[in-house]
Amino acid sequence: MTGQQRVNLWDKILPDQPINNDHYAAPADAYHRLLLQEIARSSGLKMPIDDFKLELSDKVPYEAMASSPVGLRFLQLLVKMTGARRVLEIGAFIGLSAMSMARALPKGGEVVTIEKFDHFAAIARNNFKNNGLADKITLMDGDAFAVIDSLPKDKLFDMVFIDGNKERYAHYFKALEPLLRPGGLAVIDDSLFHGDVLNPKPKSEKGQGVKDFLDVAAECKDWLRLLVPISNGTMLMVKPGA
Ligand SMILES: C[S@@+](CC[C@H](N)C(=O)[O-])C[C@H]1O[C@@H](n2cnc3c(N)ncnc32)[C@H](O)[C@@H]1O
Repeated sequence: MTGQQRVNLWDKILPDQPINNDHYAAPADAYHRLLLQEIARSSGLKMPIDDFKLELSDKVPYEAMASSPVGLRFLQLLVKMTGARRVLEIGAFIGLSAMSMARALPKGGEVVTIEKFDHFAAIARNNFKNNGLADKITLMDGDAFAVIDSLPKDKLFDMVFIDGNKERYAHYFKALEPLLRPGGLAVIDDSLFHGDVLNPKPKSEKGQGVKDFLDVAAECKDWLRLLVPISNGTMLMVKPGA
């Protein structure tokens, strides 16, 4: 063909790369604000505070720790699309992601979520109760390290969502793998860790922990997987063997 510009496929990943955005010109912050407004409008997203009866923590603003409305909807879609009935989460915080996933479960489905800190666990439990979701969510108190060990090895999960302390991501992935059914989906939040994984040597321990996990993921050649650049980076990995 003549007269056609050659397209570089790497330029087609993000919505604000020029090839995907040649009809709208604005500085990045204005662009991102409008993009989010349009995503929220067309997808019917609500702020969590308007979507749930929420008890909040007086220690940590929920906006800093919880998944964003886009992240929460993404999790719901993953539960629906995979038809997951049993979901395991590491890191409940005040329960927003567990409640979002629980809302997408079929009848009889269950989210098991692990939270280390009593303060957050107590708030999450109140939120589950106040939103009519306590019968779909089991909160396990304690360090994920120990709780995972204590889980029965014969009750497999359809989906696992790793969102606890980043320093141990690689360990969590390896420990959870036997608990995920063949064909099940692992979702690993914060997989770009604020860009730190892009540094040849990450600047933070958390960034190093996530990068160590990405090195493990890179070797999982028989898992169908994609690091999706939404939110803080979300790695999706389908376990082989189904
Ligand atoms: C990013 S927040 C989770 C946010 C939540 N999944 C959401 O999207 O709303 C991480 C949570 O993991 C918990 N956490 C950190 N280390 C943990 C560990 N070793 N075991 C269990 N939970 C842990 C923290 O207390 C915090 O509540």
